[in-house]
Amino acid sequence: MTAHDTPVDPTTTAAWAALDAHEEELADGSLREWFAQDPDRGRTLSRQAADLLVDLSKNLIQPHTLELLLQLAQETRVLERRDAMFAGEHINTTEDRAVLHTALRRPQGSAPSLQVDGQDVDADVQEVLERITAFAQNVRSGEWTGATGKRIETVVNIGIGGSDLGPVMIYEALKPLRADGLEARFISNIDPTDAYTTTADLDPETTLVIVASKTFTTLETITNARLVRTWLLDGLRARGVEVDEREAVAKHFVAVSTALDKVEEFGIDPANAFGFWNWVGGRYSVGSAIGTVLAVVLGPEVFRELLSGFHAMDEHFRTAEPDQNVPLLMGLLNVWNVNFLGAETHAVLPYSQYLHRFPAYLQQLTMESNGKSVRWDGTPVTTDTGEVFWGEPGTNGQHAFYQLIHQGTRVIPADFIAFATPTHPLRDGKVDVHELFLANFFAQTKALAFGKTAEEVEAEGTTGALVAARTFSGDRPTTSIMAPALTPAVLGQLIALYEHITFVQGAVWGIDSFDQWGVELGKKLANELAPAVAGDEQAIAAEDSSTAGLIRYYREHRA
Ligand code: F6P
Repeated sequence: MTAHDTPVDPTTTAAWAALDAHEEELADGSLREWFAQDPDRGRTLSRQAADLLVDLSKNLIQPHTLELLLQLAQETRVLERRDAMFAGEHINTTEDRAVLHTALRRPQGSAPSLQVDGQDVDADVQEVLERITAFAQNVRSGEWTGATGKRIETVVNIGIGGSDLGPVMIYEALKPLRADGLEARFISNIDPTDAYTTTADLDPETTLVIVASKTFTTLETITNARLVRTWLLDGLRARGVEVDEREAVAKHFVAVSTALDKVEEFGIDPANAFGFWNWVGGRYSVGSAIGTVLAVVLGPEVFRELLSGFHAMDEHFRTAEPDQNVPLLMGLLNVWNVNFLGAETHAVLPYSQYLHRFPAYLQQLTMESNGKSVRWDGTPVTTDTGEVFWGEPGTNGQHAFYQLIHQGTRVIPADFIAFATPTHPLRDGKVDVHELFLANFFAQTKALAFGKTAEEVEAEGTTGALVAARTFSGDRPTTSIMAPALTPAVLGQLIALYEHITFVQGAVWGIDSFDQWGVELGKKLANELAPAVAGDEQAIAAEDSSTAGLIRYYREHRA
């Protein structure tokens, strides 16, 4: 396959027609029936991918559904596209780029080495990784100091989107591993509140700033970087430090970018910059130098363990047989849920407080990737694409929005994620609280699958209109993902799992999951609106009546 081949229209395949018919047949069945008919269903529909156990059995599928979905993958040439991605073909057609985040995770010495567009990708990756490792060790050991000779205590990462969400999510997930006396903070929003509140209580003498931006042109990041540079220089001066600006910036600012020329223009010494490459998409970049903040605060060994987890899932996706290939099956299952069962959203519900930013991270990964209406050859898509991803950690979500998942009118497939070993094994008297927590995980997936019939409700003594209110239809699809513990490697596996699920969906739909043209218009308009927002009457009058009205409101009410 070449990356520019016309995408196969999935709706014209034999598998699609068969899936349509199959969906009608299945509509008469139920999870209660299917579990009763096949007492081994839980096992036959479970798979293992690296350290993850993935139980698909509580989805609205029969084993034959998976066969038909795999046929759909074959007819839409998903695995050929996968191989093209791993080989470095330019499958990001609209930007004419290779898609090689998987190369970031290849272990040192992988053979044969990966050559792409005349570049030894493995050598480039290892060189940057070694520089990051050395830098992280310097900061952690105290060898690297601020301008006044004090060791670094806080690393502030300034970035947005893929240059923020991955680092924040992983930092939060692995916080127990951070070095004593070293913390990370993150500034992303151009709302000045973010820069202000994040730096308000920091000591500039002990603060190191990482400006992370693939393009180094992103308005939010560059503005925040300038704000923090001013904060730093003013703060040092206020402490009576005689500031040589260049020297202070060199000691307190490093950068991560693919545009090292722009880093230099900003005033950061290229010697303090870590590069990556345009074949790493922003939302796929946390395994690149974008993860520098993690290597510093959590440690380079933790960062490498994370990468090894990513790689384990990459290898599973690249080599596992289709019927055992978890990202392939889960991606196809999402297609089934969206295109055949009518799901419009997908919940991700981690039963781990440390994963509280995981759904937010997945929102960019999945929705920036697959929120598209045209295919990679510019023709319109032929079916619904990208569902809305959302979620919160359990059990908090149970007391907020689960009502709608249990008894609402919409089908909401949900992924439940849990770990056997707690990070903090606390007891409440004789009760192991982690067990209480997991009991909720098991109870929710069971309730969603099997519900509660009117007869069961009545048998408990309920009568009248209350019976209907207390009845649960069941047949609400869920996937359960379990792992031994939330280690760096397991986290890497989980992230790569969702990356590849996203890939599979995009490949079936024929879309370029690696561009993001949809965010450009708003950025351009924000720049164009600046004169009107600043009060230029002529510019305001040229706007539509809604936008003009809103700007006038702002101008009149600004204190
Ligand atoms: O929002 C669009 C986007 O380009 C994302 O894809 C990207 O992760 C983010 O902006 C930040 O971009 P950069 O790393 O170039 O600052």
